[in-house]
Amino acid sequence: MNTDFDFKGKNVFVVGGTSGINFGIACGFARWGARVAVASRKQDKVDAAVKELKRLGPDAFGVAFDVRKPDDVNAGFKAVHEFFDADIDILVSGAAGNFPALVNNMSANAIRSVVDIDLLGTYHVMKAGYEYLAKPGASVINISAPQAFLPMSHQSHVCSAKAGVDMATRTLAMEWGPDGIRVNSIVPGPIAGTEGMDRLAPLGFMKKWVAKSVPLGRQGSVDDIAQAAALLSAEQSSYISGAILPVDGGWSQAGASYAMGFMTSILKAKEWFSSPLKMFSK
Ligand code: COA
Ligand code: NAP
Repeated sequence: MNTDFDFKGKNVFVVGGTSGINFGIACGFARWGARVAVASRKQDKVDAAVKELKRLGPDAFGVAFDVRKPDDVNAGFKAVHEFFDADIDILVSGAAGNFPALVNNMSANAIRSVVDIDLLGTYHVMKAGYEYLAKPGASVINISAPQAFLPMSHQSHVCSAKAGVDMATRTLAMEWGPDGIRVNSIVPGPIAGTEGMDRLAPLGFMKKWVAKSVPLGRQGSVDDIAQAAALLSAEQSSYISGAILPVDGGWSQAGASYAMGFMTSILKAKEWFSSPLKMFSK
């Protein structure tokens, strides 16, 4: 973890910030001197996260809510604002749900649950947060995923939801720019030791294969993502808004070329099979 950042006096709220990547972001900002609030569904996770954040930084606060329930999200923001007794300088929205499943094997409720958390949840957080954001100066970061621009089998629900998250980022950057609020997305690559990785690559050999497919040759760490959140929130980034920033060791580039390679092989095979038919038809 790079210790050079300085966020003393800043108020940071990380939604979905009680485990994994988002908790890593919360810990980063606490170490860099900010007061940090976190929210997620489970009170025990919130309590444990707050305990650790108080150990790392000046002060911390937590609130339990489900991002699918807009009234609860509104109440959560009110409580966080009262705790800070000041506007929020940095808002990170990263609550998400994921499980691998083919579209044909998902009920309407299965698809809805992921779209509700990832996409509509992002909207509920943004809409509830607007009132409490520092204007001008706030930095809003949505946590996206490579699925937003790389179609993946068994991930249609996540692909659709995260593509929507990035479009929300880009449109809110336009709508909130005049208030001096910057809105960006971070697109983490495969991040070691996280729930997301465990769900998509549950076995050791799968994780190794994923690491090998990253141009930089390794899985990312939660610190990599925390540092990217700090870079995007630093005053030096005051002209960056509407950006979709992959933090993935180049993985999304490689993923795209694998996809193209696959398409090329299929087209080549089609050509090969169709050539004798062409000869007969002459
Ligand atoms: N394949 C197909 N359908 C699945 C599924 C799977 N692997 N896992 C869950 N579902 C379905 C359920 O069957 C249910 O549909 P049904 O009511 O028609 O049976 C629907 O998804 C909702 O499941 P439920 O467990 O009731 O939802 P929940 O609100 O308690 O949890 C999830 C939401 C499903 C996204 C859950 O995985 C979760 O809480 N995830 C958070 C953590 C996480 O995913 N971290 C990684 C982030 S990248
Ligand atoms: P994680 O540990 O499961 O983090 C998800 C967080 O969101 C948890 O704090 C969880 O806590 C909370 N949450 C889930 N559903 C919620 C809801 N309905 N309302 C409120 N909070 C909710 O997973 P992760 O792997 O670190 O993923 C974090 C983010 O990074 C996600 O946005 C994910 O899409 C993105 N991402 C991850 C990877 C990766 O490699 N892991 C790669 C690309 C993108 P509760 O259970 O208490 O609610």
